[in-house]
Amino acid sequence: RFAYVNGRYLPQDEALIHIEDRGFQFADAIYEVWSVRSGELLDADGHFGRLERSLAELRITNPKSRAGYRLVIAELLRRNRVRDGLVYLQVSRGRARRDHAFPAAQTRPTVVMTAKRLDPAAADRRADHGVAVITRPDQRWARCDIKTVNLLPNVLAKQAAIEAGAAEAWLVDEAGKVTEGSSTNAWILNAEGVLVTRQADHAILHGITRSTIMNRAAALGYRVEERAFSVEEAQTAREAFMTSATTFVTAITSIDGRPVGNGAPGSVAIALREAYLESL
Ligand code: PDD
Repeated sequence: RFAYVNGRYLPQDEALIHIEDRGFQFADAIYEVWSVRSGELLDADGHFGRLERSLAELRITNPKSRAGYRLVIAELLRRNRVRDGLVYLQVSRGRARRDHAFPAAQTRPTVVMTAKRLDPAAADRRADHGVAVITRPDQRWARCDIKTVNLLPNVLAKQAAIEAGAAEAWLVDEAGKVTEGSSTNAWILNAEGVLVTRQADHAILHGITRSTIMNRAAALGYRVEERAFSVEEAQTAREAFMTSATTFVTAITSIDGRPVGNGAPGSVAIALREAYLESL
């Protein structure tokens, strides 16, 4: 497998960054993840837009144009023979002697990109069965709308989910409302048949798949409400599901051990997943 690091393509095991890279020292870095299907990036421009926004919020100079990133991505897909899989991109503020404040001299941002193959059939099988989620307190910071690599609370929540035999942890704010999953956005179909997902405030990542699904759902005639919902509302909803670049739309069949609906993947979640994948 080949990785891209600061202008060079290297075998992944030889692709290294400096120990004083601020991404390593302070998580002073942002990232993006694209799905690749049949050699094409999904929601490419949505992810580029968010990348530019994350960099601007942290005042990291964007080292490349979209065309520049696309050239590297195309080369990585070719070298790694990826038709279906994922592209990962990380940009850090760069390398400087360790000091919390931004370095006085302009640093060169570090750009790392990798690509890997995934079997789309395996992902589809998982979605066919639906997944269990648990809930955990949301212990993250107040700017979750920036896609930084500062993911420790997400990592711990996901690990707790895996240890509980679940696939994802839904994070719950101090008001008892679900913010999002550790690496996915959270949705329900409530008793009135309305799709509900939290408003895109600073408490959640503004998921690219989330906004595409909002548009698809509206086009299919569903009502979508952007507002916070409680764990109890989710447990008594008709359906629950999650969205992300890696899971597309995946039905949730239980929350903290309580079945959602009849405990099988909901028909609206399935229809939205199909609508998303058909539009490629
Ligand atoms: N995660 N919320 C969080 C906290 C996320 O990390 C992600 C994506 C999402 C969904 O966003 P999108 O639809 O743009 O992928 C929501 C990526 C896939 C990851 O960390 O690997």
